[in-house]
Amino acid sequence: GTVIHSISLTELEVLQNCFMLVDKSGKIQTLQADVQPEQIIAIVSDHGYAPDVFPVKYLRRGEFLCPGFVDTHNHAPQWAQRGLGIRGESLLDWLNKVTFAHEAKFADVEYAKRMYASCVAGFLQQGITTASYYGSHHGQATRILADVCVDKGQRALVGKCNMNRNAPEWYRDASVADSLRETRQLIRHVQDLDPENDLVKPILTPRFAISCESDLLQGIGEIAKEHPDLPIQTHFNEAQQEIQYTRQLFPQFRTEADLYRQYGLLNDRTILAHCIFLEEEEIQTLQHLRCGVAHCPISNTTMQEFMVAPIREYLRRGIKVGLGTDSGGGYSSSMLDAMKQAFIVSNARHMLTKGQDAPLSLAEGFFLATLGGAQVCGLEDRVGNFAVGKEFDALQIHTGELEQPGVMSPVEEDDSVLAIFEKFLMTGDDRNIVKVYVRGRSVKV
Ligand code: GUN
Ligand code: FE
Repeated sequence: GTVIHSISLTELEVLQNCFMLVDKSGKIQTLQADVQPEQIIAIVSDHGYAPDVFPVKYLRRGEFLCPGFVDTHNHAPQWAQRGLGIRGESLLDWLNKVTFAHEAKFADVEYAKRMYASCVAGFLQQGITTASYYGSHHGQATRILADVCVDKGQRALVGKCNMNRNAPEWYRDASVADSLRETRQLIRHVQDLDPENDLVKPILTPRFAISCESDLLQGIGEIAKEHPDLPIQTHFNEAQQEIQYTRQLFPQFRTEADLYRQYGLLNDRTILAHCIFLEEEEIQTLQHLRCGVAHCPISNTTMQEFMVAPIREYLRRGIKVGLGTDSGGGYSSSMLDAMKQAFIVSNARHMLTKGQDAPLSLAEGFFLATLGGAQVCGLEDRVGNFAVGKEFDALQIHTGELEQPGVMSPVEEDDSVLAIFEKFLMTGDDRNIVKVYVRGRSVKV
């Protein structure tokens, strides 16, 4: 059938009558366009397989495969608070009034099991095959989150949120030593959990500098040095209010980039969420250290400060960019919604720069949600598109005929494949995502 994926930021490849062969380990063995059904047996035999061992699935017009979505920034313990108290609220007030109380509930192990099962299933349902998760500050609940991802088959980076100040006494790490011990325990737990499949990895997750004392950031930087493969994530230049408070707390650093760099937290495995108000020298630091940007346009435009990240500038500089739902600061946990908001925000940027920064194209938006996100998460050798040798993380999309339920713009006879794809991205939802695969395993229930 039809297969659509990104080759680069601007190149969207549409393969028709495409045959894809996925082996038992979930790796893509071949990807070939313009194949007639009667050629399939020969191709399969060429790869050394008996023709009858593979079930072959045929897609019809209006159906296609695309890579799974990569959510580069997601707060798993905010799953049950999406939509609450965020409209027009300042970031720090929202954390204090709404968020910390919700995340604190994950002290209860049974609650964590129940809520994380719902959360991971909910994200898979929406086609998020890879997520970079912030857990709560609880070590045990975060280990449970990693267990749930392995069990349900979601590819994930899972981090225990480090935070030992500027949060209520009932929701923060008791000490620097405690915070670092729990972090190390999570790293061991995740590495032991799934060494063969390697679907789930630990990620260092200092919440942001406001919630970490200097000694804690120092300690996390030391863990990063000991484990050179570990990814790192934090919130970065998200709001003026947050930047000013960070400056008050850390007057010795010129900028946030200077701060995180000096603690050893900026490298080519770092995922920086938001990146709205960067000074030129900070952009250069991101460029030189090859840090990735998690663009979260929904939360950026729902809070009090309407925030427009200069994504075109980052792309122009060759900085890696992916999309994040920032669920629940982002009220929606749908990557389709995040992509649409990215288009809208890029229009705002186009206006603000008097036409200098072009709006994102459809191909670019889709790239950010898939291959761009994989690059940001350090997974571009494994997922993000259907290059031969990568793992099969895929969505089977049914855009349906008129009788199919849903609100998607109906497919008409004269629609090109690209028009159908555009209709899905702009008006489809999870009802159109009928199957979700992570490394060949069907994971949508
Ligand atoms: N900064 C620190 N914590 C958070 C959070 O939970 N969400 C967002 N959007 N920003 C943050
Ligand atoms: Fe966030």
